[in-house]
Amino acid sequence: MPIKRAAPLRVAVLASGRGSNLQAVIDAIEAGQVQATIVAVISNKKEAAALERARKYGLPDLFIDPKPFAGRPDSREAYDRTLLEVLEKHHVELVLLAGYMKIVTGVLVNAYANRMMNIHPSLLPSFPGLEVQKKAIDWGCKLAGCTVHFVTEGVDEGPIILQAAVPILDDDTSETLAARILVQEHKIFPRAVELFAEGRLRVEGRRVVIDGATPNGEAIISPS
Ligand code: GAR
Repeated sequence: MPIKRAAPLRVAVLASGRGSNLQAVIDAIEAGQVQATIVAVISNKKEAAALERARKYGLPDLFIDPKPFAGRPDSREAYDRTLLEVLEKHHVELVLLAGYMKIVTGVLVNAYANRMMNIHPSLLPSFPGLEVQKKAIDWGCKLAGCTVHFVTEGVDEGPIILQAAVPILDDDTSETLAARILVQEHKIFPRAVELFAEGRLRVEGRRVVIDGATPNGEAIISPS
């Protein structure tokens, strides 16, 4: 049974690039699909288009420069401690990694255990890491897709919340496949936030149980 929230879920979005997944979440909130408010958009890249998008919508945006932390043995942790202070100051309840291309440490993972989600453009646990669309094509996979998962310390390893699959076509390039996957990312990321906001996600070991989920028993066969 979805919980009725007294106040919208307070979300922070961490992004390093163009921010199309940020946009998908903004759109879902504006459409009333997701009862949430984005209280901060934070980037490790000064020029990230995601920050520009945030400004366009009047959302608080912040660039946290990794440079001052570089060179020290705990540079990643120190960066994340600064980030955590910002998240706590804004009373953030859910953190979204939306194309955030920086490895998060235990500092953030532990503070936001089962409250931090990542979107990744492969059907995990296949192809964690980078250039994953190329890897799926090179491997000869017939299906690819995307995954929303809770973040743990292992890169792209946490409990899976939602996945969407798409076919890989014979003439696909990394770019055409990435574009096909991205369409699905923009559906499942806001949907995962919606389920979280409704209090319907329960983590049991490696598995995420979704209260009241509608099973989809359809097989996807590619090529048909
Ligand atoms: C998305 O395809 C996302 O899945 C990927 O970066 C892109 C960001 O696009 N993330 C990762 O590869 C993380 N491992 P966006 O900035 O337009 O949302």
